[in-house]
Amino acid sequence: MSNLTQRIRLHYNLLAPFYYGLWGQHVHHGFWEDAGDGASQAEAQERLIRELYRFGGSPPHPALLDVGCGYGGSLLWLARNVGAQGLGITLSPLQRWIGQVKIRRARFQPRVRIAVADAQQRWPLPDASVDLVWCVECSEHLVDRSHFAREAHRVLRPGGRLCLAAWLAGPATTPEALALRQTVEQGMLCYPFSSAEEYARWFTEAGLEAVQSRIITPHVVRTWDICIGFRNRPLLRRAAALIGGDVQAFTASFTALRQAYAEGAMEYGLFTARRAVGAVEEAPSS
Ligand SMILES: C[S@@+](CC[C@H](N)C(=O)[O-])C[C@H]1O[C@@H](n2cnc3c(N)ncnc32)[C@H](O)[C@@H]1O
Repeated sequence: MSNLTQRIRLHYNLLAPFYYGLWGQHVHHGFWEDAGDGASQAEAQERLIRELYRFGGSPPHPALLDVGCGYGGSLLWLARNVGAQGLGITLSPLQRWIGQVKIRRARFQPRVRIAVADAQQRWPLPDASVDLVWCVECSEHLVDRSHFAREAHRVLRPGGRLCLAAWLAGPATTPEALALRQTVEQGMLCYPFSSAEEYARWFTEAGLEAVQSRIITPHVVRTWDICIGFRNRPLLRRAAALIGGDVQAFTASFTALRQAYAEGAMEYGLFTARRAVGAVEEAPSS
């Protein structure tokens, strides 16, 4: 496991109580229709999940793999609302533990479950075994996103769908924009962001078809006003200073992130793609 991946695991373990306490079961952006949308943070986060599911063609009752599943917020939403069942993987044993407690309390065990696994390795599922590969804001932490695409293709059944929500490199390429993006990548413990075009190319090269993307940056930026509000609370400032190191750089990067979206250094995108029907024999091995 690379040094950065170890730091990512430590980050999600260390900050599990903070993430869960402040952000709830979903560790991802919210989706607001427009400036006048009064949706709460929790409502907006749930809406992002709904948007992604719809964008992916709303597969009914899917057997799924959620890559980088956090506390299982998506797993539970998909189980409750569309009859999904399956597995989520996370790097963090603490996230898994909290997520399993939630799943048990919600009485969705054993229909959905969480395992600790590194998505940069071979995914812990047989070939052609799921209808839906779901991934919300994890691919930024993966060093080789073409491996992600190949593994998604491998585990999907013919006709199965990939749904991905990701932070992206935006079109701005001035030195200032690149510096801003790098501040975010380093603060957020991400490998250099990829563009929407790069993701689309990896999906196509892996053998997926019907690749579509949708840039939704204006719908999600409000997330960072909320995060900056959290960060400015005196108690949380003191906690971040006490923990120091990566955590301080993490909270310091919130402002850069908001600016990176505003200046086109970053974008936020939804993706979907499908495994061709009848393509089992042609699956490229990863
Ligand atoms: C921003 S959180 C998103 C969590 C979840 N998808 C959600 O939307 O609530 C990123 C997640 O990716 C996971 N992650 C990061 N790198 C990973 C890796 N190499 N393998 C598996 N999971 C990973 C983290 O453990 C964390 O659960």
